[in-house]
Amino acid sequence: MELQKEQLSHLDPAAKRQVLIEALSYIQDFSQKVVVIKYGGAAMVQEEFKVSFARDIVLLRSLGMLPVIVHGGGPEVTAAIKQYGLESTFIDGLRVTDLPSLKISEMVLSGTINKEIVTNINTQGGLGIGISGKDGRLIQAHKLEIPGTDLGYVGEIEQINPELIFTLIEKHYIPVISPIGMGTDGNTYNINADTVASHIGVALKAHKIIFLTDVQGILRDDQLISAINRQETLELIEKGVISGGMVPKVKGMLYSLENGVKSAHIISGMDPHAVISELFTDKGTGTKIIL
Ligand SMILES: Nc1ncnc2c1ncn2[C@@H]1O[C@H](COP(=O)(O)OP(=O)(O)OP(=O)(O)O)[C@@H](O)[C@H]1O
Ligand SMILES: [Mg+2]
Repeated sequence: MELQKEQLSHLDPAAKRQVLIEALSYIQDFSQKVVVIKYGGAAMVQEEFKVSFARDIVLLRSLGMLPVIVHGGGPEVTAAIKQYGLESTFIDGLRVTDLPSLKISEMVLSGTINKEIVTNINTQGGLGIGISGKDGRLIQAHKLEIPGTDLGYVGEIEQINPELIFTLIEKHYIPVISPIGMGTDGNTYNINADTVASHIGVALKAHKIIFLTDVQGILRDDQLISAINRQETLELIEKGVISGGMVPKVKGMLYSLENGVKSAHIISGMDPHAVISELFTDKGTGTKIIL
């Protein structure tokens, strides 16, 4: 915070006032509104960004917004699987999850990563609470069936039971959710975190959903697309311009928008205060998807 104050001290008073007025109108708009933030990619790897992210989330909560974090952790899961002498196999960007990989995924996602985010939020003065999709039956899932392919314990969301999250929010906690669900069959399922975030956004009737990742937004020929509609998005998937990890993100965003979430954005986690810029300034930094 000290550093930011120092940076602002160089602004002239009129510019400072303008920044404040712009921000204040957003603070009013977002008061008591749920904002779902999917935290993945590089934002989760570099230490300095982890701390600034946690600080921003705590700040949002203290301003009356209701942030809910859903995290991924693809790179960390891959590294842990390797450490155990196993190999990760991907089919169309989705990890094939056999039983040993599932156990490692759950350990890393619901354990190490989840608790690290909670630690950072708590260190910044917030009330972080880490849960997985199993807790309170938050994420009910079944095996994702793809004809001709067996992805193992990769799940498809059947139902979100958001009661636990509402209870936590009401008591001022900041929920941090890992993308692990369970089935009525008692099986554990690994679910794409973007898909989890978008379903949670819908179940919580979120005002906004923000995806923090390791790129600025949707890129075409290395250029950032700052706004894109459903039709154009589907065309870019068809042409292969949007591929890999970006596909579940944009599909999740379209699903959220079609089901009541007011706005959906992808922003870079490489920018230390991207969440704040997205929420409190007129000009967003990444890609906004519209219907
Ligand atoms: N058109 C595109 N524009 C930008 N990135 C794209 C595009 N098509 C594919 N991608 C890829 O999508 C990646 C982001 O998705 P990825 O799944 O790797 O990260 P994440 O979802 O943020 O993290 P995690 O999966 O760990 O939760 C980018 O790093 C990029 O390689
Ligand atoms: Mg991803």
